[in-house]
Amino acid sequence: MDIKFNELLLSTEIKGMGKLIDHLVQMGFYTAPASSQNHLCREKGLLEHSLNVYAIASVMPMAGLVDKNDLIVSCLLHDIGKMGAFGEIMYQDNILKSGKISDAKPYVVNKNIVIEHQDLSLMIASKFIDLTRETAIAIKFHNGLYTPDGRTINGKETRLMMILHFADMWASRVVEV
Ligand SMILES: [Fe+2]
Ligand SMILES: [Fe+2]
Repeated sequence: MDIKFNELLLSTEIKGMGKLIDHLVQMGFYTAPASSQNHLCREKGLLEHSLNVYAIASVMPMAGLVDKNDLIVSCLLHDIGKMGAFGEIMYQDNILKSGKISDAKPYVVNKNIVIEHQDLSLMIASKFIDLTRETAIAIKFHNGLYTPDGRTINGKETRLMMILHFADMWASRVVEV
């Protein structure tokens, strides 16, 4: 659990947010890593990353041009799919033949889940709260053109999607290295 993360989400007063937080607790969001071997590949890395993305996005001059709640929801929930889904965790311990966890790559991606994390984030959040169109687009396309299905957004980018994409890049490529 994290007080700041929860308080920000609850400040939106969106119906169902408390239940979504309960689900995040149950599914291990607050202790999950942010990646298998890249940025914040350690316990609680995913929570730290989500807060970093919000901290960066919220001080961008153009943040005032998007809805305050949409900014909170999209930044804090964009990667919740990385905790896993269908009762399975996304990042599993990468145990070497020696029996130790690899230092270079502490986790491996659960091949059973298959679905991309941005789609899982949408799926999980939508079970508990109503996402606005802006928030759904921003979460779905937060990787910009770095994923094959990101090409769909070319020419249809929204303000929130661009803010989230940039904040996510800045967090993972600058702040968290
Ligand atoms: Fe992501
Ligand atoms: Fe991210």
